[in-house]
Amino acid sequence: MLKYDISFILNNEQVHISVDPHKTLLDMIREDLDLTGAKEGCGAGECGACTVLVNNRPVNACLMLAVEADGQEIITIEGLSTGEELDELQESFIDHAALQCGYCTPGMIMSAKALLMKNPTPTETEVKKAISGNLCRCTGYKKIIEAVMDVVNKNQQ
Ligand code: FES
Ligand code: FES
Repeated sequence: MLKYDISFILNNEQVHISVDPHKTLLDMIREDLDLTGAKEGCGAGECGACTVLVNNRPVNACLMLAVEADGQEIITIEGLSTGEELDELQESFIDHAALQCGYCTPGMIMSAKALLMKNPTPTETEVKKAISGNLCRCTGYKKIIEAVMDVVNKNQQ
């Protein structure tokens, strides 16, 4: 089958890869690049489990074609930590026990991260809006919002 050569930045590293024109960004990231943090939930843009950042904006990777990544900058949950050091949002989710099964967590954190990159001190309402496309079947959202707001409060100090 015809494949397309694309190149893009993934988690601060240049990637060159040949992809099937029908492959989604999510499948390329998980199957070809072995980054399995982004999850497939619905596969239809409804749950947010697959959220990654494209040019610092949250995107449902299940809805974007891999070929569309050409020339873009992609960040996945794996790109947030530096070596052993977790991102402050990741730390805060752990501290607040803001996850149970964890399936929604990478997407949830990426949506929150996109907001904090744009605005380090959003209101709680803005946080709720930013994660409104990310569904969680376990936590009831309260601890998730607390975890994000804890980072926001630290940013305000
Ligand atoms: S798997 Fe992409 S939005 Fe649900
Ligand atoms: S922690 Fe299970 S879906 Fe959110």
